[in-house]
Amino acid sequence: MKFFVDTANIKEIMEAQEWGIVDGVTTNPTLLAKEKENPLDVIKGIVKTVNGPVSVEVISTDSKNMVVEGRGFAKIADNIVIKIPITKEGLKATNVLSKEGIKVNVTLIFSTNQAILANKAGAAYVSPFIGRLDDIGNEGVNIVKDIVKIFNIHSASTEVIVASIRQPLHVTEAAKIGAHIATIPFNVLEKMVYHPLTDKGLTIFLDDWKKIKKRV
Ligand code: G3P
Repeated sequence: MKFFVDTANIKEIMEAQEWGIVDGVTTNPTLLAKEKENPLDVIKGIVKTVNGPVSVEVISTDSKNMVVEGRGFAKIADNIVIKIPITKEGLKATNVLSKEGIKVNVTLIFSTNQAILANKAGAAYVSPFIGRLDDIGNEGVNIVKDIVKIFNIHSASTEVIVASIRQPLHVTEAAKIGAHIATIPFNVLEKMVYHPLTDKGLTIFLDDWKKIKKRV
């Protein structure tokens, strides 16, 4: 399963890259708004740092301007992917941009049918938001199961990016389901590394080694 980092923070991206686990990055307007720098400069910094796909979301809500924005973002770098919300206008824009060879990540997906429509429109990626479904009492992972199953049955070329990940268990579930990608906030990546028994075990090893050193 590919790991994307769900952040616009270049320090987090670079730290995760040093771990050797970064296959791409996803951003959105909220994540970009958290950074102090000009969003375009942030995006240019990310695409220079990461070789894999970097998703950048359009702000327009009408297809004509979504297409204009998408074409503009695509010119920044070859690894830019255009994030477009799953709306009627978004489907129109996805249809146009995908036919021009521009990769689209259809986002804000909360149902299996939305993912099927996005695939039909030519999406390179779909982003089901499992955390936000959990937030309202649904089991977000279940729609990912359906989407992956249906895409596999029909050999769909669209890749599933499990998004809105809130906890390490979401990553485990995504991997068990066979999702192509999990886009993971840095704080969740850090939680994935940590286990109290690892820390405890390391302390015991180092303390025992000190005992040997005293003897030699
Ligand atoms: O970036 C898309 C998605 O991961 C956003 O997640 O935490 O805002 O629901 P969240």
